[in-house]
Amino acid sequence: MLKIAVCVSGGGTNLQAIMDAIDSGKIADTSIEAVISNKRDAYALERAKSHGIPAVCISPKDYESRAEFNEAFLEKLDSYAVDLVVLAGFLVVLPEEMIRRYRNRIINIHPSLIPSFCGKGFYGLKVHEAVLERGVKVTGATVHFVDEGTDTGPIIFQKAVDVQEDDTPEVLQRRVMEQAEWELLPRAIDLIAKGKVSVADGFVRIEE
Ligand code: GRF
Repeated sequence: MLKIAVCVSGGGTNLQAIMDAIDSGKIADTSIEAVISNKRDAYALERAKSHGIPAVCISPKDYESRAEFNEAFLEKLDSYAVDLVVLAGFLVVLPEEMIRRYRNRIINIHPSLIPSFCGKGFYGLKVHEAVLERGVKVTGATVHFVDEGTDTGPIIFQKAVDVQEDDTPEVLQRRVMEQAEWELLPRAIDLIAKGKVSVADGFVRIEE
């Protein structure tokens, strides 16, 4: 059984896709041990609660310093003894100690085709605004392992999504979620649960 924790900051549609995929059997042999958010009002926490999954908020606002937040966050995460951490719209810079402790056991969904439109400042709607500003014809989503950089870890899956003439950032975001994010993240978790994903020299190998 693959035990996972899902870290969220927003609406939780990627979390919902994971929960639905576990329920339907699209993700094998996986249990969500906890959903952790830095935002008390994240609707993703409501989604977890209505699914009977422990939902906790660890907010930087409740700590005197970043170091104290980092320590509390890591202590809470460690308490669930998970195999894999899934960042699903999690807008927090991870503690370096966490990256070390969970080397190649943290995955993230990013709403562009990395290395385009990623890195500092590229998150949520800002990604799609930049895509439309640049006038690219194809965008998409990327699932990758998390390392010390921002959106720089080994890539697991990518999927392209067409940009359409009259797209707004909101319409484009929704298409990227529907056509790419909500498919790629569950698929990555399923293959990790089946032991079919490995990382060597910074590259991902997948046994299909
Ligand atoms: C999505 O656009 C996702 O790509 C990005 O953050 C947003 C979160 O969406 N990482 P949700 O909270 O999963 O609905």
